[in-house]
Parts: sequence; structure tokens; C-alpha cells
Amino acid sequence: MKIVSFLGSPKKKGNTAALLDSVLKGLHESAVVESEYFFLHDMKIAPCNGCDACKKANSTGCVIRDDMDLIYAALRKADIIILATPIYWWSVTAQMKLMIDRIYGMDFKCGRKKIALLMTYGGELPNSGPETLEKLFVEICDYLKMEAAGTLGVCTETLTVSKNEKALQDGLSFGAKLVK
Ligand SMILES: Cc1cc2nc3c(=O)[nH]c(=O)nc-3n(C[C@H](O)[C@H](O)[C@H](O)COP(=O)(O)O)c2cc1C
Repeated sequence: MKIVSFLGSPKKKGNTAALLDSVLKGLHESAVVESEYFFLHDMKIAPCNGCDACKKANSTGCVIRDDMDLIYAALRKADIIILATPIYWWSVTAQMKLMIDRIYGMDFKCGRKKIALLMTYGGELPNSGPETLEKLFVEICDYLKMEAAGTLGVCTETLTVSKNEKALQDGLSFGAKLVK
């Protein structure tokens, strides 16, 4: 089974990274998986230019050549995709959005895969961030004709993920369930 995960936080060792680590640990403990990881903040990903070339019949994909080429290759092979992002303004981070925009043409070329969403959020009330992002995620999965394989959200207002035993345990269980 092949897993590809994407960290959308600008922090390599922040809350979202800790949550993703626990999910990947749970997943590796439960099944033999091959996993590939991308730290989007360090990658050169140009914004989609809206040319629609990726949507044309007989298209060979996106016309822009940059680090997305590595991601396209990984996505084609993957059985399960994990998107891990802090919530920024009720949505994904800009780093994650650049990548999502650039997979616009993959809806009918990629085959059916599972996608999971991990999110951390600050949580000042009132906060509909997790619900808003979850809705967006389900719409994106439908559009890509992929299976929404679940979401896991952790509030980081009072406790960082690395100090939050329950969150780390939830991450392990979530990872284990993803590969069942
Ligand atoms: C620019 C910015 C926007 C944010 N927007 C939200 C938001 O809309 N809702 C929320 O609950 N938290 C928001 N937060 C808080 C982060 O989601 C939270 O601190 C998260 O756990 C950070 O994860 P990280 O340690 O991986 O960077 C925002 C933080 C930043 C820096």
C-alpha cells in the first residue's frame, strides 16, 4: 500500500507536523506501507495559471514544470493521500492551496484513491474552522472522484499537539484505521 502525505504548515516541527507524525506512526504500525512525504513550504510550486490545458481531451497534464512534477508522480502511485494543514482563515494554508489548485486536472486521470484530512487550529471562539474546512474537503474529494477517508482535527489553543496525549493517541488510531 502506498501513502503520500503533505504537510501544509510552514513549521516542520509544529502542531500539524506532530499530528501527521502520529498518524503515520499508527499507519506503519498496522500495515506494511510505503510512504512518501512532502513538506510543501520548502517546495517550488507556482500558482495555477488557469489555462485549462490540464482539462483538455488528450491532455498530458499541467503545462507548468516545477516541483509539482514530483507530487504528480507520487499522487499517481498513491493509494491513500493525507493532507495535513493548520487552519488559516477557516481554510487550508496558502502552501496547501497552491498544491490543490495544481491538481485541478487530475480528477479523471488519477483513479479512485482515499484522501484523509488532518487539521490543527487555534480555536478562539466562535470558531467554525474545522466544520468549514471539512465541508470544503468533502467537496474537493467529490470533485476529484476520490473517497473522503475521514478527518481529524485538534485544537491547539491550550496544549500543543506534542504535549497532548489524547491527540497523539487519536492520531495513532486514525492512522491504523486508514489502512484497514
Ligand atoms: C495566518 C494564520 C491564520 C490562522 N487562522 C486560524 C483560523 O481561521 N482558525 C483557527 O482556529 N486558527 C487559526 N490559526 C491558528 C493555527 O491554525 C494554529 O495555531 C495551528 O495549530 C498552527 O499549526 P502549526 O503549529 O502546524 O503551524 C491561524 C494562524 C495563523 C498564523
